[in-house]
Amino acid sequence: MTQGASSGPARRAVIGAAVAAGAALGTGAGAGAAQAAARTQGRGGGPGYRGLPVPTVIAHRGASGYRPEHTLGSYRLALDMGAHVIEQDLVPTRDGHLVCRHENDITGTTDVADRPEFASRRTTKSVDGTSLTGWFTEDFTLAELKTLRAEERIPAIRQENTLYDGRWTVPTFEEVLRWAEREGRRRGHPVWLHAETKHPSYFRGLGLGLEERLARLLRRYGRHRANSPVFLQSFEPSSMQRMARLVATPRVVLLSGPASRPWDFVEAGDPRTVADLVKPAGLDWIASFAQGIGPTLDLVVPKDAAGRLTEPTTLVRDAHARGLLLHPYTLRNENAFLPADFRRGTDPTAYGDAFGAYRAYFATGIDGIFTDMPDTGLLAAEEV
Ligand code: G3P
Ligand code: CA
Repeated sequence: MTQGASSGPARRAVIGAAVAAGAALGTGAGAGAAQAAARTQGRGGGPGYRGLPVPTVIAHRGASGYRPEHTLGSYRLALDMGAHVIEQDLVPTRDGHLVCRHENDITGTTDVADRPEFASRRTTKSVDGTSLTGWFTEDFTLAELKTLRAEERIPAIRQENTLYDGRWTVPTFEEVLRWAEREGRRRGHPVWLHAETKHPSYFRGLGLGLEERLARLLRRYGRHRANSPVFLQSFEPSSMQRMARLVATPRVVLLSGPASRPWDFVEAGDPRTVADLVKPAGLDWIASFAQGIGPTLDLVVPKDAAGRLTEPTTLVRDAHARGLLLHPYTLRNENAFLPADFRRGTDPTAYGDAFGAYRAYFATGIDGIFTDMPDTGLLAAEEV
């Protein structure tokens, strides 16, 4: 990692450029605050998310900067920190239960590799065109999966989090819904969730369609309405189109790098790339079935060859013009994940100038942000 210009003119220039560009678009820090006030006043008639604080701090896989991701411990810490929304990624078990894992390959986030009784389940399969070897949720019943314990995904960077290895099981989404209901009652305000369907085409091909199962759970727990405290999200637009036919819950289309193609497009022979989807026609199309987009942060403020932030794109303005909110992903405090201009020193595991990075991204007028460290994000959001 290069020595970051975390202080001095270079960084100020980046922030200044972002603020200036945001102001020119009517979406800078000042306008952002005005938008926040306007949106938090919209509780009456509009969709429920209009009552959320802006910028909205979304706890990415819970407070995954401090606890093994997608555990009740990670979700609980995020809520205790005050995160506005808590994210789940959803994959199915062999018997059709939705569980919270970032991917169906559970090799890196559970102790499955140390469990001799499951050694024979190790296998190689192709998921969305990528060959993977490991253990997969769809090869386990829920009862089997529940015997596993969650572990830290990146122990080399987050050694402290390994303290909690083995402490929690893999939660089902139904457990999370029950927990959210319970905590909402106890705390006197709804607990917002942000649930992503992972590899929906792949699972439909296995007879394990995610959307009907998700819709059933949302209905069971009263989160199927336009004003329900939950967002749905997917990298596959057809998954959000399917959800739109099943429930009214707000939907967000995730967008990866510009050259990438959603896997459902690949399967359907749709030639469009993400670069096409962020153009006016692409955004018009998304706005016909979704309420927001979840772009990678690089689509909002691209980086140069050295990994430094450059000028913001017009994506915030273009999406807002179509009534789409923006929940970009993912900001983390460690140097390893920050833009080069906000790194401090050369240790990839050390924290850089995360507040500077938040400032630059918030200045673009984004509506929220996914972060592994919601406490940092909340402090940064106070400055907007
Ligand atoms: O869902 C928002 C963000 O989490 C997308 O990236 O890969 O962490 O699910 P990923
Ligand atoms: Ca996700």
